[in-house]
Amino acid sequence: MSPLTKKFTFSDLRAARTSSRKLAMLTCYDFTTARVMQEAGVPMLLVGDSAANVILGFDTTLSAPLRFMIDITAAVRRGAPLCMVVADMPFGSYGGSIGRSLGFRNVVRVMKLTSADCVKMEVGIEHVDLIRELAGIGVAVIAHLGLRPQAVGLLGGYKVRGRTADEANSLVELALQMQRAGAAALLLEAVPPDVSARIVERTEVPVIGCGAGPACHAHVFVTQDGVGLTAHKPKFVPDLGDLAGPMKEMFARYVNDIGSGAYPAPQHNYDMAAEERTKFLAVRA
Ligand code: KIV
Repeated sequence: MSPLTKKFTFSDLRAARTSSRKLAMLTCYDFTTARVMQEAGVPMLLVGDSAANVILGFDTTLSAPLRFMIDITAAVRRGAPLCMVVADMPFGSYGGSIGRSLGFRNVVRVMKLTSADCVKMEVGIEHVDLIRELAGIGVAVIAHLGLRPQAVGLLGGYKVRGRTADEANSLVELALQMQRAGAAALLLEAVPPDVSARIVERTEVPVIGCGAGPACHAHVFVTQDGVGLTAHKPKFVPDLGDLAGPMKEMFARYVNDIGSGAYPAPQHNYDMAAEERTKFLAVRA
């Protein structure tokens, strides 16, 4: 295990384009886990709107509130000052050309209140102007393409994108337009490996994959899926282990210890000074 010893920056992510070493990104939603991830040497933490699913228990990510995302992103920042922290812009907090000024203001608000290093947003062609304006004031935007969970209604479900030649070509074209607009990196979700390889080849910015095959420079998934805490694990997610089993055993042991009186034991009690205790007990209630 090699904990981070210096701040991981966007320059380090850019360097992955020319290095053979791939980078890890994990989703993270709280201070405590952020601290553990930094100590484990995870360089990049995405405070994803998947928090709506795994933290708040909603079926889709559409319900993620902006204020909630700001608060948890700031918590992750405090827990992992050396990691690159990515703030995910939730559904409805940024628009296309019509909601552009709302999106601009919200991104600035998120950057100021969270101290995140960059923002991620699910984008289509309608977001080109917003990305250009944000890049113009120095915001590093990660453009999320492919499967866009915030557009689940329009896309008609959580389906792999780019499975036909036409759709794959449109994705490559969109990636190029995002790069031209100033996106600092791309994130491809649920895209076949040949399509992500083509995007890596045709663009000059780092490409992060989320179920997008080996050509990407970095990889991310929802942490809870990989550590056995969710009911369904998407096929691209690695099996990092099973936290649910040991957690259930620990909680069950606590329930038993309370029931049997094994807890609290003398070592769990706070003492009084002997003199004070004698004085206190001498007077009967
Ligand atoms: O919200 C999220 O966690 C994401 C990743 C799965 C890419 O967008």
